[in-house]
Amino acid sequence: MAARPGHVKVMTEAMMREAVALVIRSGSISAAARELGLSRQSVQHRLDAAERAGLAKPRTQSNPSRWRPGAEIVAARKAEFARVRGAGPQATGNIIHRPDDGPFMLIMLGDEHLDSPGTSLELWERWIGFLNRAKHITGWSLGDCLDNWVKALGHLYGASETPAAEGWILLEHYMEQIGEDLDGSVAGNHDKWGGGDLVLGGIMEKYGVIHRADSLRVTYRCPNGREITVNARHSWPGRSMWNEVHGIKRAARMGIRDTILVGGHTHVSGESTERDPMTGKISFCYQVASFKLVDDYADTLGFLDRHISPAVALVIDPRRADNDPELVKHFYDPEPAADYLAFLRRKAKAVA
Ligand SMILES: [Fe+2]
Repeated sequence: MAARPGHVKVMTEAMMREAVALVIRSGSISAAARELGLSRQSVQHRLDAAERAGLAKPRTQSNPSRWRPGAEIVAARKAEFARVRGAGPQATGNIIHRPDDGPFMLIMLGDEHLDSPGTSLELWERWIGFLNRAKHITGWSLGDCLDNWVKALGHLYGASETPAAEGWILLEHYMEQIGEDLDGSVAGNHDKWGGGDLVLGGIMEKYGVIHRADSLRVTYRCPNGREITVNARHSWPGRSMWNEVHGIKRAARMGIRDTILVGGHTHVSGESTERDPMTGKISFCYQVASFKLVDDYADTLGFLDRHISPAVALVIDPRRADNDPELVKHFYDPEPAADYLAFLRRKAKAVA
Protein backbone atom coordinates (compact mmCIF):
# COMPACT_ATOMS: atom_id res chain seq x y z
CA MET A 1 0.00 0.00 0.00
CA ALA A 2 1.36 3.37 -0.98
CA ALA A 3 2.02 5.69 1.90
CA ARG A 4 0.18 8.91 2.07
CA PRO A 5 2.43 11.91 1.33
CA GLY A 6 1.93 13.38 4.82
CA HIS A 7 3.14 10.15 6.49
CA VAL A 8 6.39 9.54 4.59
CA LYS A 9 9.17 9.36 7.10
CA VAL A 10 12.41 10.74 5.70
CA MET A 11 15.53 8.76 6.56
CA THR A 12 17.94 11.38 7.86
CA GLU A 13 21.69 11.02 8.21
CA ALA A 14 21.29 11.45 11.96
CA MET A 15 18.96 8.41 12.12
CA MET A 16 21.44 6.31 10.18
CA ARG A 17 24.37 7.36 12.39
CA GLU A 18 22.31 6.76 15.52
CA ALA A 19 21.51 3.19 14.41
CA VAL A 20 25.13 2.42 13.53
CA ALA A 21 26.38 3.85 16.85
CA LEU A 22 23.83 1.94 18.89
CA VAL A 23 24.54 -1.38 17.20
CA ILE A 24 28.25 -0.90 17.81
CA ARG A 25 27.72 0.08 21.44
CA SER A 26 25.11 -2.54 22.35
CA GLY A 27 26.66 -5.34 20.32
CA SER A 28 23.52 -6.43 18.44
CA ILE A 29 20.74 -5.21 16.23
CA SER A 30 18.13 -6.57 18.67
CA ALA A 31 19.57 -4.60 21.60
CA ALA A 32 19.75 -1.44 19.49
CA ALA A 33 16.17 -1.97 18.38
CA ARG A 34 15.00 -2.32 21.99
CA GLU A 35 16.79 0.87 22.97
CA LEU A 36 15.29 2.79 20.06
CA GLY A 37 11.80 1.31 20.56
CA LEU A 38 11.83 0.03 16.96
CA SER A 39 11.58 -3.34 15.32
CA ARG A 40 14.68 -5.23 14.25
CA GLN A 41 13.63 -4.70 10.64
CA SER A 42 13.51 -0.94 11.10
CA VAL A 43 16.98 -0.86 12.56
CA GLN A 44 18.24 -3.14 9.79
CA HIS A 45 16.63 -0.78 7.30
CA ARG A 46 18.57 2.15 8.82
CA LEU A 47 21.78 0.12 8.74
CA ASP A 48 21.27 -0.72 5.09
CA ALA A 49 20.69 2.94 4.33
CA ALA A 50 23.81 3.86 6.28
CA GLU A 51 25.76 1.29 4.30
CA ARG A 52 24.56 2.74 1.01
CA ALA A 53 25.39 6.27 2.20
CA GLY A 54 28.88 5.18 3.25
CA LEU A 55 28.15 5.94 6.90
CA ALA A 56 28.75 2.41 8.20
CA LYS A 57 32.45 2.60 7.60
CA PRO A 58 34.66 3.68 10.51
CA ARG A 59 35.59 7.33 10.44
CA THR A 60 39.26 6.54 11.11
CA GLN A 61 41.56 3.57 11.15
CA SER A 62 44.89 2.99 12.86
CA ASN A 63 47.55 0.40 13.58
CA PRO A 64 46.63 -2.12 16.26
CA SER A 65 47.27 -0.90 19.81
CA ARG A 66 50.53 -1.94 21.45
CA TRP A 67 48.57 -2.29 24.72
CA ARG A 68 46.50 -5.28 25.76
CA PRO A 69 42.73 -4.92 26.14
CA GLY A 70 41.44 -4.55 29.70
CA ALA A 71 40.21 -8.12 30.17
CA GLU A 72 43.58 -9.50 29.04
CA ILE A 73 45.43 -7.21 31.46
CA VAL A 74 43.19 -8.32 34.33
CA ALA A 75 43.79 -12.01 33.59
CA ALA A 76 47.56 -11.49 33.30
CA ARG A 77 47.70 -9.43 36.51
CA LYS A 78 45.81 -12.08 38.46
CA ALA A 79 48.18 -14.78 37.19
CA GLU A 80 51.18 -12.59 38.01
CA PHE A 81 49.98 -11.97 41.56
CA ALA A 82 49.45 -15.70 42.14
CA ARG A 83 53.00 -16.34 40.89
CA VAL A 84 54.55 -13.55 42.99
CA ARG A 85 52.69 -14.54 46.16
CA GLY A 86 53.64 -18.19 45.66
CA ALA A 87 57.33 -17.27 45.35
CA GLY A 88 57.31 -14.70 48.16
CA PRO A 89 58.98 -14.86 51.56
CA GLN A 90 55.76 -15.89 53.32
CA ALA A 91 55.33 -18.96 51.13
CA THR A 92 56.23 -22.30 52.68
CA GLY A 93 56.97 -24.29 49.56
CA ASN A 94 60.79 -24.40 49.81
CA ILE A 95 61.47 -27.90 51.06
CA ILE A 96 64.65 -29.95 51.13
CA HIS A 97 63.92 -33.61 51.68
CA ARG A 98 66.47 -35.15 54.01
CA PRO A 99 67.44 -38.70 53.01
CA ASP A 100 67.23 -39.87 56.64
CA ASP A 101 66.23 -38.75 60.14
CA GLY A 102 69.81 -38.41 61.36
CA PRO A 103 72.06 -35.41 62.06
CA PHE A 104 73.33 -33.21 59.28
CA MET A 105 75.57 -30.21 58.90
CA LEU A 106 75.08 -26.87 57.18
CA ILE A 107 78.03 -24.63 56.36
CA MET A 108 76.89 -21.03 56.27
CA LEU A 109 79.33 -19.24 53.96
CA GLY A 110 79.64 -15.53 54.72
CA ASP A 111 80.14 -12.76 52.18
CA GLU A 112 82.41 -14.38 49.60
CA HIS A 113 83.67 -11.37 47.60
CA LEU A 114 85.64 -13.95 45.61
CA ASP A 115 87.25 -11.40 43.26
CA SER A 116 88.20 -8.91 45.97
CA PRO A 117 91.94 -8.30 46.54
CA GLY A 118 91.28 -8.61 50.30
CA THR A 119 89.69 -12.06 50.09
CA SER A 120 91.51 -15.19 51.18
CA LEU A 121 90.77 -17.92 48.64
CA GLU A 122 92.88 -20.35 50.72
CA LEU A 123 90.43 -19.90 53.58
CA TRP A 124 87.50 -20.19 51.18
CA GLU A 125 88.85 -23.42 49.70
CA ARG A 126 89.42 -24.89 53.16
CA TRP A 127 85.79 -24.29 54.14
CA ILE A 128 84.23 -25.46 50.88
CA GLY A 129 86.50 -28.51 50.96
CA PHE A 130 84.25 -29.92 53.68
CA LEU A 131 81.07 -29.68 51.61
CA ASN A 132 79.93 -33.17 50.74
CA ARG A 133 76.28 -34.02 50.24
CA ALA A 134 77.03 -37.74 50.53
CA LYS A 135 78.37 -37.04 54.03
CA HIS A 136 75.34 -34.90 54.89
CA ILE A 137 77.34 -31.67 54.79
CA THR A 138 75.79 -29.00 52.57
CA GLY A 139 76.16 -25.25 52.29
CA TRP A 140 74.44 -21.92 51.99
CA SER A 141 75.76 -18.79 50.30
CA LEU A 142 74.81 -15.63 52.19
CA GLY A 143 75.47 -13.16 49.38
CA ASP A 144 78.01 -10.71 47.98
CA CYS A 145 79.58 -13.50 45.91
CA LEU A 146 81.51 -10.88 43.92
CA ASP A 147 82.44 -7.22 44.38
CA ASN A 148 80.46 -6.40 41.24
CA TRP A 149 81.41 -2.72 41.40
CA VAL A 150 79.10 -0.52 39.31
CA LYS A 151 78.71 3.12 38.36
CA ALA A 152 80.66 5.47 40.64
CA LEU A 153 82.22 2.50 42.44
CA GLY A 154 83.54 1.11 39.14
CA HIS A 155 86.83 2.91 39.78
CA LEU A 156 87.53 0.33 42.50
CA TYR A 157 88.35 -2.19 39.76
CA GLY A 158 91.41 0.03 39.31
CA ALA A 159 92.67 -1.32 42.65
CA SER A 160 91.90 -4.93 41.80
CA GLU A 161 93.70 -7.39 39.52
CA THR A 162 90.47 -9.18 38.66
CA PRO A 163 88.27 -7.50 36.07
CA ALA A 164 84.49 -7.88 36.25
CA ALA A 165 84.31 -10.62 33.61
CA GLU A 166 86.92 -12.73 35.42
CA GLY A 167 84.91 -12.38 38.60
CA TRP A 168 82.05 -14.30 36.99
CA ILE A 169 84.51 -16.86 35.60
CA LEU A 170 85.89 -17.28 39.12
CA LEU A 171 82.42 -17.81 40.53
CA GLU A 172 81.57 -20.37 37.83
CA HIS A 173 84.89 -22.11 38.52
CA TYR A 174 84.00 -22.65 42.17
CA MET A 175 80.34 -23.42 41.46
CA GLU A 176 81.48 -26.31 39.28
CA GLN A 177 83.14 -27.68 42.41
CA ILE A 178 80.48 -26.98 45.04
CA GLY A 179 77.22 -26.29 43.18
CA GLU A 180 75.82 -29.76 43.83
CA ASP A 181 76.61 -29.41 47.54
CA LEU A 182 74.85 -26.08 48.04
CA ASP A 183 71.27 -25.96 49.28
CA GLY A 184 70.43 -22.25 49.41
CA SER A 185 71.61 -18.85 48.28
CA VAL A 186 70.55 -15.27 48.94
CA ALA A 187 71.87 -12.33 46.96
CA GLY A 188 73.88 -9.59 48.60
CA ASN A 189 73.73 -5.88 47.90
CA HIS A 190 76.85 -6.19 45.71
CA ASP A 191 75.23 -9.03 43.72
CA LYS A 192 72.13 -6.94 43.11
CA TRP A 193 73.94 -3.93 41.69
CA GLY A 194 73.42 -3.64 37.96
CA GLY A 195 71.15 -6.69 37.91
CA GLY A 196 73.96 -9.10 38.79
CA ASP A 197 71.53 -11.00 40.99
CA LEU A 198 69.68 -12.25 37.92
CA VAL A 199 72.91 -13.77 36.59
CA LEU A 200 73.71 -15.23 40.02
CA GLY A 201 70.19 -16.69 40.27
CA GLY A 202 70.64 -18.33 36.87
CA ILE A 203 73.96 -19.88 37.92
CA MET A 204 72.44 -21.18 41.17
CA GLU A 205 69.44 -22.61 39.33
CA LYS A 206 71.80 -24.55 37.05
CA TYR A 207 72.98 -26.51 40.10
CA GLY A 208 69.57 -26.89 41.73
CA VAL A 209 70.36 -24.37 44.47
CA ILE A 210 67.32 -22.52 45.84
CA HIS A 211 68.08 -18.82 45.35
CA ARG A 212 66.25 -15.65 46.32
CA ALA A 213 67.17 -12.01 45.86
CA ASP A 214 66.39 -11.07 49.47
CA SER A 215 65.04 -13.57 51.98
CA LEU A 216 64.97 -17.34 51.72
CA ARG A 217 63.14 -19.65 54.11
CA VAL A 218 63.65 -23.36 53.62
CA THR A 219 62.26 -26.38 55.46
CA TYR A 220 64.46 -29.45 55.90
CA ARG A 221 61.97 -32.31 56.13
CA CYS A 222 63.06 -35.70 57.48
CA PRO A 223 61.35 -38.91 56.35
CA ASN A 224 59.73 -39.19 59.82
CA GLY A 225 58.11 -35.76 59.34
CA ARG A 226 60.48 -33.81 61.63
CA GLU A 227 61.09 -30.35 60.22
CA ILE A 228 63.96 -27.91 60.73
CA THR A 229 63.53 -24.46 59.20
CA VAL A 230 66.27 -22.10 58.05
CA ASN A 231 65.58 -18.42 57.42
CA ALA A 232 68.34 -16.50 55.66
CA ARG A 233 68.79 -12.91 54.54
CA HIS A 234 71.94 -11.20 53.38
CA SER A 235 71.05 -8.32 55.68
CA TRP A 236 68.58 -8.24 58.57
CA PRO A 237 67.30 -4.80 59.59
CA GLY A 238 68.55 -3.42 62.91
CA ARG A 239 72.03 -2.57 64.22
CA SER A 240 73.47 -2.26 67.69
CA MET A 241 76.97 -1.20 68.71
CA TRP A 242 76.64 -3.64 71.63
CA ASN A 243 75.52 -6.73 69.80
CA GLU A 244 76.67 -7.97 66.36
CA VAL A 245 73.69 -10.30 65.99
CA HIS A 246 71.15 -7.69 67.08
CA GLY A 247 69.12 -7.51 63.84
CA ILE A 248 68.74 -11.28 63.59
CA LYS A 249 67.96 -11.71 67.28
CA ARG A 250 65.41 -8.91 67.06
CA ALA A 251 63.66 -10.73 64.21
CA ALA A 252 63.52 -13.90 66.31
CA ARG A 253 62.18 -12.00 69.31
CA MET A 254 59.58 -10.23 67.17
CA GLY A 255 58.16 -13.55 66.02
CA ILE A 256 60.34 -15.20 63.38
CA ARG A 257 60.40 -18.57 65.12
CA ASP A 258 62.51 -20.56 62.70
CA THR A 259 65.05 -23.09 63.95
CA ILE A 260 67.93 -21.18 62.40
CA LEU A 261 68.12 -17.50 61.44
CA VAL A 262 71.24 -16.45 59.58
CA GLY A 263 72.63 -13.42 57.80
CA GLY A 264 75.77 -11.78 56.42
CA HIS A 265 76.48 -8.28 55.07
CA THR A 266 78.18 -6.62 58.07
CA HIS A 267 81.40 -8.69 57.86
CA VAL A 268 81.30 -9.31 61.61
CA SER A 269 80.57 -12.48 63.57
CA GLY A 270 78.03 -13.15 66.28
CA GLU A 271 75.65 -15.75 67.60
CA SER A 272 72.74 -15.91 69.99
CA THR A 273 69.73 -17.97 70.93
CA GLU A 274 66.17 -16.80 71.41
CA ARG A 275 63.62 -18.79 73.40
CA ASP A 276 59.94 -18.47 72.56
CA PRO A 277 58.40 -17.67 75.98
CA MET A 278 55.16 -19.48 75.16
CA THR A 279 56.35 -22.69 73.52
CA GLY A 280 59.97 -22.92 74.68
CA LYS A 281 61.13 -23.33 71.08
CA ILE A 282 64.67 -22.09 70.62
CA SER A 283 65.77 -20.12 67.56
CA PHE A 284 69.49 -20.21 66.83
CA CYS A 285 70.75 -16.91 65.38
CA TYR A 286 74.01 -16.44 63.47
CA GLN A 287 75.63 -13.35 62.06
CA VAL A 288 78.31 -14.57 59.65
CA ALA A 289 81.31 -12.46 58.59
CA SER A 290 83.19 -12.63 55.29
CA PHE A 291 86.02 -14.24 53.36
CA LYS A 292 87.15 -10.68 52.61
CA LEU A 293 89.62 -10.39 55.47
CA VAL A 294 91.21 -7.10 54.44
CA ASP A 295 88.48 -4.54 54.09
CA ASP A 296 89.51 -1.06 52.94
CA TYR A 297 85.95 0.20 53.40
CA ALA A 298 85.92 -0.84 57.07
CA ASP A 299 89.30 0.82 57.53
CA THR A 300 88.10 4.02 55.87
CA LEU A 301 85.09 4.21 58.16
CA GLY A 302 87.02 3.07 61.24
CA PHE A 303 84.90 -0.02 61.92
CA LEU A 304 86.27 -2.15 64.75
CA ASP A 305 87.31 -5.60 63.63
CA ARG A 306 84.73 -8.06 64.97
CA HIS A 307 85.44 -10.73 62.39
CA ILE A 308 85.75 -14.11 64.11
CA SER A 309 85.14 -16.51 61.22
CA PRO A 310 84.20 -16.23 57.52
CA ALA A 311 81.68 -19.03 57.92
CA VAL A 312 79.93 -21.08 60.58
CA ALA A 313 79.34 -24.83 60.58
CA LEU A 314 76.04 -25.87 62.14
CA VAL A 315 75.56 -29.46 63.24
CA ILE A 316 71.85 -30.17 63.57
CA ASP A 317 70.44 -33.19 65.34
CA PRO A 318 66.79 -33.41 64.32
CA ARG A 319 66.21 -36.19 66.87
CA ARG A 320 66.34 -33.49 69.51
CA ALA A 321 63.26 -31.39 70.29
CA ASP A 322 62.69 -27.75 69.35
CA ASN A 323 63.26 -26.67 72.97
CA ASP A 324 66.54 -28.59 73.29
CA PRO A 325 69.53 -26.20 73.37
CA GLU A 326 71.67 -28.99 71.82
CA LEU A 327 69.48 -29.14 68.70
CA VAL A 328 71.97 -26.95 66.83
CA LYS A 329 75.68 -26.69 67.66
CA HIS A 330 77.92 -24.19 65.91
CA PHE A 331 81.60 -24.44 65.08
CA TYR A 332 84.02 -21.86 63.72
CA ASP A 333 86.23 -24.59 62.30
CA PRO A 334 84.70 -27.08 59.84
CA GLU A 335 87.01 -29.92 60.85
CA PRO A 336 85.81 -30.53 64.43
CA ALA A 337 82.28 -29.86 63.17
CA ALA A 338 82.62 -32.66 60.61
CA ASP A 339 84.12 -34.93 63.32
CA TYR A 340 81.22 -34.19 65.64
CA LEU A 341 78.73 -34.89 62.85
CA ALA A 342 80.41 -38.22 62.07
CA PHE A 343 80.34 -39.08 65.79
CA LEU A 344 76.64 -38.26 66.06
CA ARG A 345 75.80 -40.23 62.94
CA ARG A 346 77.78 -43.28 64.18
CA LYS A 347 75.92 -42.98 67.43
CA ALA A 348 72.66 -42.76 65.53
CA LYS A 349 73.44 -46.06 63.84
CA ALA A 350 74.52 -47.65 67.11
CA VAL A 351 71.25 -46.58 68.79
CA ALA A 352 69.20 -47.83 65.87
FE1 LIG B 1 79.73 -7.90 51.76
